Formats: sequence, C-alpha cells, structure tokens
Amino acid sequence: MSDANWTAVDGYFSEKLLAADTALEAVLAANAAAGLPAIDVSPLQGKMLALFARMAGARRVLEIGTLGGYSTIWLAGAVGATGHVVTLELDPRHAAVAAANVDRAGFADRVDIRVGPARDTLDAMIARGDGPFDLVFIDADKPNNPHYLKAALALSRVGTVIVADNVVRDGKVIDPASDDDRVRGTRALFDLIAAEPRLDATAVQTVGVKGHDGFCLALVVG
Ligand code: SAH
Ligand code: DHB
Ligand code: MG
Repeated sequence: MSDANWTAVDGYFSEKLLAADTALEAVLAANAAAGLPAIDVSPLQGKMLALFARMAGARRVLEIGTLGGYSTIWLAGAVGATGHVVTLELDPRHAAVAAANVDRAGFADRVDIRVGPARDTLDAMIARGDGPFDLVFIDADKPNNPHYLKAALALSRVGTVIVADNVVRDGKVIDPASDDDRVRGTRALFDLIAAEPRLDATAVQTVGVKGHDGFCLALVVG
C-alpha cells in the first residue's frame, strides 16, 4: 500500500537532502533491466543506513540480503576506502547483477558478495571466527530473521549496530495468529530481542515510497 502524499513527501526530502547520484541511479536501472524485483531500500533509507554506519564509525559491515547491491553500495560508500562490506545472497543471478553494479560504482575492492543460503554462510563465518562487524543490516528472507539475529550477535562486539528491515509490513507484525511465515519470522525476531539482555533496541514505523513499513535498530550493549 502506498499513498500519494507519502510519496510526495519522500520526493521533497529527496530533493532537499540527496545529491544526484548517477551511480546509484544506474544500479536501479540495471536491476530493472535484469528483471530484479524493485524491493531495494529507498534512496532516503539508503542514506539513513549510510549515516548509521558513519555515526558508528563502521569499517566492517555485514549485510544479509544483497539483491542488486543498492543498499550495499550505500554502505560501501559509508565505510570509506579502508572499510569492507560482506554481503550475503542466495540467488546467483541477483549476486551477478550486484557484482556488476558494485564494480561500476567503483567499490569492487571493498565489497565481498558471498553466494548461498545466508544461514550456511553465516554458520561458516562464525565457525571461522570472522568478525566482529561494526554494523549488520538484516534484509533477506524474513522467515529466517531469528536465525539472522542470532548470527549477527555471534559476529558482533559491544557497540555493534544491528538494523533489520521490513518489520512492519502494513501493520501485519501485530497479528499473533498470522500464518504468514514472514510475519512469524519478524515476530520471533522481536521475541528474541525482548529476551536478549545483550541488546538495547527500538523500532520505527515509516511511510514513503515503500508504503507503510519500518525498521528495527538495535545496539549490542553486553
Ligand atoms: N538489501 C537489498 C534488498 C534485499 S532483497 C537492498 O536494499 O538493496 C532480499 C534479498 O535476499 C533477495 O535478493 C533474495 O534473493 C535474498 N535472499 C532470500 N533468501 C535468502 C537466503 N536464504 N539467503 C541469502 N539471501 C536470501
Ligand atoms: C520485500 C522485501 C524487502 O526486503 C523489502 O524491503 C520490501 C519487500 C518483499 O519480499 O516483498
Ligand atoms: Mg528490505
């Protein structure tokens, strides 16, 4: 569901706050040409992620759910020349489009796209002792959100920022009887966070070009 006024306000904020960025526009064009679903974060949300990363002084970012690399490229810009983004993607076709986009954006040297089911990739990363990451962006298949949160914690340190996308979905999140696995996954994410003393968290509803949705923002405190 979208609303013309929400979209118009996003347009106003974009005009005021976002520099024209042909590299990021090229990513969206390449994604559309390749037939990828247009479920990237919005430009204003991409900038929010980049600002979170800069506020946290993030140099090592982990992203779960690459798609065409639109959010990846926002994050890659934020970590600086000495930073690194590891991004996990199930679909090799999405990963190939993302790799081309990241290359065109000039970030191939700081972005590592790992193809496969993220749960397996994360398990391997944890087993190897990878991390800690400074910021983790969870934006893949929502039924696995509780697994992704646990893995994010295992790859974190005190001070790591964890952001999870799409936690509202038109308000569906409040339905305890939902039979939608995506809703159940997100509710399980909140159950984990609520019971997790190592996390301090909030969630913010958003409206805009992506309709009524929201994100969860958590800080590792222990
Ligand atoms: N973060 C991206 C959007 C990601 S869309 C952006 O804002 O630009 C979600 C992505 O997660 C899709 O590309 C989908 O293929 C991927 N995905 C779905 N299931 C997955 C899994 N089990 N492991 C890894 N990636 C998965
Ligand atoms: C969907 C997934 C997303 O990550 C998103 O931001 C919007 C929509 C989806 O699967 O429909
Ligand atoms: Mg999303």
